Amino acid sequence: MVNAVLLGVQWGDEGKGKVVDLLTERADAVVRFQGGHNAGHTLVIEGVKTVLHLIPSGAMREGIECLIGNGVVVDLQHLIREIDSLKKRDIDITERLMISLGCPLILPYHVVLDRVRDEARGKSAIGTTGRGIGPCYEDKVARRGLRAADLLDEKVFSDKLEQVMEYHNFMISNYYHSESVDYQNTLEVMLQAREAVLPLIGDVSARLNALCQSGKSIIFEGAQGMMLDIDHGTYPYVTSSNTVSAAASCGSGIGLGQVGNVVGVIKAYTTRVGSGPFPTESLDSYGMHLARQGNEFGATTGRPRRCGWLDIAALRRAVQVCGINALCMTKLDVLDGLDKVRLCIGYQCRGEQIDLPPYGAENLEQCEPIYEEMPGWDIPTAGLRNYAEIPEPALAYLDRVAELLERPVTIISTGAGRDETIILQHPLEAG
Ligand code: IMP
Repeated sequence: MVNAVLLGVQWGDEGKGKVVDLLTERADAVVRFQGGHNAGHTLVIEGVKTVLHLIPSGAMREGIECLIGNGVVVDLQHLIREIDSLKKRDIDITERLMISLGCPLILPYHVVLDRVRDEARGKSAIGTTGRGIGPCYEDKVARRGLRAADLLDEKVFSDKLEQVMEYHNFMISNYYHSESVDYQNTLEVMLQAREAVLPLIGDVSARLNALCQSGKSIIFEGAQGMMLDIDHGTYPYVTSSNTVSAAASCGSGIGLGQVGNVVGVIKAYTTRVGSGPFPTESLDSYGMHLARQGNEFGATTGRPRRCGWLDIAALRRAVQVCGINALCMTKLDVLDGLDKVRLCIGYQCRGEQIDLPPYGAENLEQCEPIYEEMPGWDIPTAGLRNYAEIPEPALAYLDRVAELLERPVTIISTGAGRDETIILQHPLEAG
C-alpha cells in the first residue's frame, strides 16, 4: 500500500482537483483534511465540467470512498447542495461519503462575521471568499464552536447554538453595527440539514486507519496552497487553516508516517486571488496572456485571478516546509506561444539577495524578484500525452524548475481533460 498527499504549493488554484481525480484510478479513498467550500476543484471528464468545493475529488469514480476529515470546516447547506447536484448527474455520493465527527460546522453567523470583518478592514481587506471560513476556525480554536458530533443530540446542539449565538450576535450588533442573526431560524435550518447528513457522520480517523491496515491506497487532497498557510504563508493575507503536508495527518486523524508521498502541485506560472503581496505579478502583456490562455477566474467566487511568473523562491519554502518529494506541473500549455518565459530564482530585499520568501506580508512587499529568462516555444504542448513530444524549450523549462527545486517533475498536465496528462511516476506506486 502506498498513500500520497497532493498539495497546492502556490496561492491555490494549481489544478489539484484534476490531478487527484486522475490519480484516483489507482486509489481506494480520497480524504480532504483542511479548508472548506472556499476551495473550488474543477474536473473535466469527457468534456463535462464539474466543480467540487467540499466533496473530495474522488467523487467522479465509482467505488472510491470520499472522506471529509476533522480539519475541514463544513457548511451543511452547501454540502447538501453539492450532494444534490451530483445526484442530478446520477452520482449517489452518499453511499461512499463520510464526514468526521470532529468537523467544525460553519453557521450562518460565521458568514455574516466574515463579511463585516473584512469590510471593517477597509483598505487592508483580505478579500476572503466570504464563506465564513475564518470565523468558523476561530470558534474552533476558541473552543466554543459546534462540531458535527454535536448534531448527534438535538438538545445538546440547540443549547450550544443558543449560547454561541448570544455571544456572536452581541458582537455583530454592538461592535459591527450590523443586523444580528435569528436564533430560531438558524436552529430550524440546521435541524433540517441534520436529518440529511446524520447518516454520513462517522469516525473518519478510524476508517482511514482501517483502510491502511487492509492495504488500501489513500489520497490526501489539499485545498488552497502553501502560500495561503496560516503559519507559513503571506500572513495576514492567508486562509485560516494549515495547508502544509503535516495538516494531512492532524486534519484527518492518521499518523504522519501513513501520509506517504508528498506531491507538490505547481502551476507553470503563478496566480493569486484576493489581496496580499505577489512579487512576480505581471501586469503587462505576459500577465494578460496567462490570464486569457489560462482562463484565470476563481472557481468559487468568479473573481479574476492576478497572474505572474513562476516563483521558485516561494516554491523552495514549500519544498522545505512540506517535505515534498515530487512535483506535478499543471497548465504547461498556457505558456505556449510566449517568446520568452521567466523564473524568479530569488529576491532583492532591502539591499540583500535572498532565496526564500521572508515571513510576513509587509516584508514580502519589499521584495523585488530576480529573474532568469529562458526561450519560449511555438510548438504547442496543449493536449500532449507523451513526454517525447514535448518541445525542447518546454522540456528545458521543466528541467530547470526541477534542478532549482532539487525535486523531479513526475506529472505534467497539458490541458483540463482527465487524459491530457503525462505521468512519469505515479505517486501511488512504490518509488
Ligand atoms: P478565506 O479562505 O475565504 O478566508 O480567504 C482568505 C484568502 O485565501 C483570500 O485571499 C482568498 O481569495 C484565498 N483563498 C481561499 N480559498 C482559496 C482557493 O481555494 N483558491 C485560491 N485562493 C483561495
